[in-house]
Amino acid sequence: MKKLCLLGLLVSLASHPVLAETAPVPLENKEAFISDLLKRMTLEEKIGQLRLISIGPEMPRELIRKEIAAGNIGGTFNSITRPENRPMQDAAMRSRLKIPMFFAYDVIHGHRTIFPISLALASSWDMDAIGRSGRIAAKEASADSLDITFAPMVDISRDPRWGRTSEGFGEDTYLVSRIAKVMVKAYQGQSPALPDSIMASVKHFALYGAVEGGRDYNIVDMSPVKMYQDYLPPYRAAIDAGAGGVMVALNSINGVPATSNTWLMNDLLRKEWGFKGLAVSDHGAIIELIRHGVAKDGREAAKLAIKAGIDMSMNDSLYGKELPGLLKSGEIEQKDIDNAVREVLAAKYDMGLFKDPYVRIGKAEDDPADTNAESRLHRSDARDIARRSLVLLKNQNDTLPLQKTAKIALVGPLAKAPIDMMGSWAAAGVPAQSVTLYDGMRNVLGDKAQLVYARGSNITADKKVVDYLNFLNFDAPEVVDDPRTAQQMIDEAVNAARQSDVIVAAVGESRGMSHESSSRTDLHIPASQRDLIKALKATGKPLVLVLMNGRPLSLLEENQQADAILETWFSGTEGGNAIADVLFGDYNPSGKLPITFPRSVGQIPTYYNHLTIGRPFTPGKPGNYTSQYFDDTTGPLFPFGYGLSYTSFSLSDMALSSTTLNKSGKLDASVTVKNTGKRDGETVVQLYIQDVAGSMIRPIKELKNFQKVMLKAGEEKAIHFTITEDDLKFYNAQLKYAAEPGDFNVQIGLDSQDVKQQSFELL
Ligand code: NOJ
Repeated sequence: MKKLCLLGLLVSLASHPVLAETAPVPLENKEAFISDLLKRMTLEEKIGQLRLISIGPEMPRELIRKEIAAGNIGGTFNSITRPENRPMQDAAMRSRLKIPMFFAYDVIHGHRTIFPISLALASSWDMDAIGRSGRIAAKEASADSLDITFAPMVDISRDPRWGRTSEGFGEDTYLVSRIAKVMVKAYQGQSPALPDSIMASVKHFALYGAVEGGRDYNIVDMSPVKMYQDYLPPYRAAIDAGAGGVMVALNSINGVPATSNTWLMNDLLRKEWGFKGLAVSDHGAIIELIRHGVAKDGREAAKLAIKAGIDMSMNDSLYGKELPGLLKSGEIEQKDIDNAVREVLAAKYDMGLFKDPYVRIGKAEDDPADTNAESRLHRSDARDIARRSLVLLKNQNDTLPLQKTAKIALVGPLAKAPIDMMGSWAAAGVPAQSVTLYDGMRNVLGDKAQLVYARGSNITADKKVVDYLNFLNFDAPEVVDDPRTAQQMIDEAVNAARQSDVIVAAVGESRGMSHESSSRTDLHIPASQRDLIKALKATGKPLVLVLMNGRPLSLLEENQQADAILETWFSGTEGGNAIADVLFGDYNPSGKLPITFPRSVGQIPTYYNHLTIGRPFTPGKPGNYTSQYFDDTTGPLFPFGYGLSYTSFSLSDMALSSTTLNKSGKLDASVTVKNTGKRDGETVVQLYIQDVAGSMIRPIKELKNFQKVMLKAGEEKAIHFTITEDDLKFYNAQLKYAAEPGDFNVQIGLDSQDVKQQSFELL
């Protein structure tokens, strides 16, 4: 047995490109292997490993290969096919120590097959579906030679003005933490070293979702308790699930940029949480330390970043320029550089690249003839996952599902919008391969189609906004205006509506409106589209709004005008088919909001689990001197956890197994959920807990568990949740994580507002 292992070891060493030429160090022993490699590296080679560059169309490839062969680059991103990446890996294999490159990309919600945006995935509350989307993305990305993704993005976002709300999984710490874990496991599979796995690099560490005023790249000022309680757990969940990397946020935290924040990177991430992986700066973040006003020049910026524990520098050249001088002058120590290099090498080791630098690049003869080939897509999974992520917000008089024999007017600037369908961060998705709503409805209706289409309006009539959204889209602008006047387009749409039994209006945002650097002051659907909705409403025909957007919108008026509203977010490659499945009743919607919809932008923040206050507003008992805005109804338009179905559900017989809980004990909370309607359907039973009185003010409730349940028409089922002391723990003023004895309310509901309640005491 021993002999066999030794033989295997010798074979693998002999075939290893680095070790073949040098002293044999066991590749199987990660620490020894990396230490040995480190010893043999020059300072330049070490600093080269810390450089992560973006490959753009304008980059001279030959120069890049030269730099790689000279040992001056550790990894790239944005170059995403095997034929593109192979020559770079070949160049690395020509370098003195043959240290492999890694290839990274923003695989956020799919790679070639585009799944619904993250906020939509979260709306499914379906961990299997979400995990499936991540696993397929990993398979597709690794088949395209990618080794690592800058995902999952798990920033808690409670301010929908922030454009990157679309990219995260919503406002709730518990839900986002569950998804963070699922996504890391999905990307990395059994191991990030496997050929069909990619390493996960969780972002944006930390608190990026809390930027002031929802303005991208802004500051974050937050109490430690709030950080620990609400914002940090999802990153921690990703790390505990084994995420190999962390991307550091662009924002500052309580006056110190994340990129130079030794408390964040060292004390919290590495010491307290035990993170052992790769820390990458965000794009140009090190040089931005000068603009943040914490570094007087590039030299100081590089020093702060390396000292804080930024291993790899994304797209700025300061490490290369400044680290040698800083070392010489004694401002940094050799170990500062070595520690960073060690993390880069360890990540490459964990990706399986030392064992086989071509593990995901494969052989040229196996390259796909067409990277965009239809056969490389996972359409049926994309359709299934997209259907699960749609949220029915309103359905007055059973307007939906539509009759397949009905005459339908399909209007709106998003009805035929293949690019928008994919959402932002659409990785390698090809717009021409995405199914629009028009296509999806045609696919259901076939030749019998009585579908009349009219565009109805442009996305917006504000030229400045269009220019902003098209800025940087050099090849082809994304937001293309119809040259007709607004009135001409509305007239055409109204005409189509008059000839029809029902109107379906696809309205909302273009995908660029919910993206990086796309903060908004106004959460309304743009005015041009609101004018269209008004005119459609005036026809008196039943009006179905199919919303496409990447953040909660304020829909007060639309909620009055529309008979039915389906929130579809940006639902990906198969979006049109998935939406049509729901519109025509071939799939019964089951999504629930992972984020609160405010009535107006002025109400923000509106997250459901806010802290209790001394003078709460009590519905039904209006009056002065309670916490409210006097000029609008208090409370959200659609609460967290809300979403309808074509059937109805009731909850009854809520019970707790005991009115007390011992610290090491368990409590069973149960409820009977019944499908009281005529169709089979799924719903999400949600468990919330409130700590009634503690040493600190606690939230009015917090999601602690949920179950998605499928019930046939008329079927009922008892749902059980186990509550333990762990569910009651929180960070107190000393940041100690513990449960305090006392009374707790347990609430079970099908959304966060409409709940049944029972109480118990923690002894
Ligand atoms: C900047 C973004 O903030 C980050 O999320 C992304 O991963 C990088 N650019 C690379 O594209």
